[in-house]
Amino acid sequence: MTKERVMVFSRFERFWHWFQAVLIVALMITGFEVNGAYEWLGYEAAAQWHRWTAWVLIWLWVFAIFWHLITGEWKQYVPTPRGMIDVIRYYTVGIFDPGVSHPYKKTRLAKHNPVQRVAYSTFNILITPIIWITGLLYMFYNDWGALGLDGLITLSGVALVHTAAAFAMLVFFIGHVYMAGFTAKPFYGYLKAMLTGYEELEPHPDNSAGRPDRPNARPAP
Ligand code: HEM
Repeated sequence: MTKERVMVFSRFERFWHWFQAVLIVALMITGFEVNGAYEWLGYEAAAQWHRWTAWVLIWLWVFAIFWHLITGEWKQYVPTPRGMIDVIRYYTVGIFDPGVSHPYKKTRLAKHNPVQRVAYSTFNILITPIIWITGLLYMFYNDWGALGLDGLITLSGVALVHTAAAFAMLVFFIGHVYMAGFTAKPFYGYLKAMLTGYEELEPHPDNSAGRPDRPNARPAP
């Protein structure tokens, strides 16, 4: 079947994705040093870099949330059970058979398959807010009294939850890099889409949907 070249990831999404990836790697490196997993920058420098990088990430998230709300792109993350079993069967069995193709037919308006929707929603609604809130509590430890938090929470409890969320983020990160790098056909397919914005998709009316500044659904060269 002739495929069409579709703009799947807008310029802002690509910027947000890669900038967030760099910041999260930096936060993992400095955070696990603060935690005492190893010594590289030294505790003080690691903690300082961790706090600066965290502020940049918080600002990026504020912009990303705003962008998702005004463009309506948040709808692409709403979980659905439709087709979930087929995708799980593909990832666990079908993927090892070169003759089997991905059962999910991506479109411009539904670019995440059911498993991705669950994984990304868990990341966005659970892991990220937990890390963000506990991180800010950690940062504003000296203001707990003024905020009425004294006696309600403890620093060791906040550190424990923050570190648990950091491990959850590490697991997500490893799974995400594995899926992006090893499950595409050809292997660089997903990476290329997140770099150029374009992907070759089966024709679908939804592929031409989008904002006027997005030249969607151009015929494949
Ligand atoms: C916006 C998000 C974040 C904020 C505001 C934040 C803030 C903080 C702060 C203030 C500390 C204490 C540093 C110190 O001792 O002065 C800390 C520690 C830590 N952070 Fe974050 N952080 C954030 C995101 C992350 C991320 C994304 C990771 C890793 C995935 C991470 C992993 C850690 C770890 C492992 C520690 C050490 C905890 C301990 O053993 O006490 N943080 N964070």
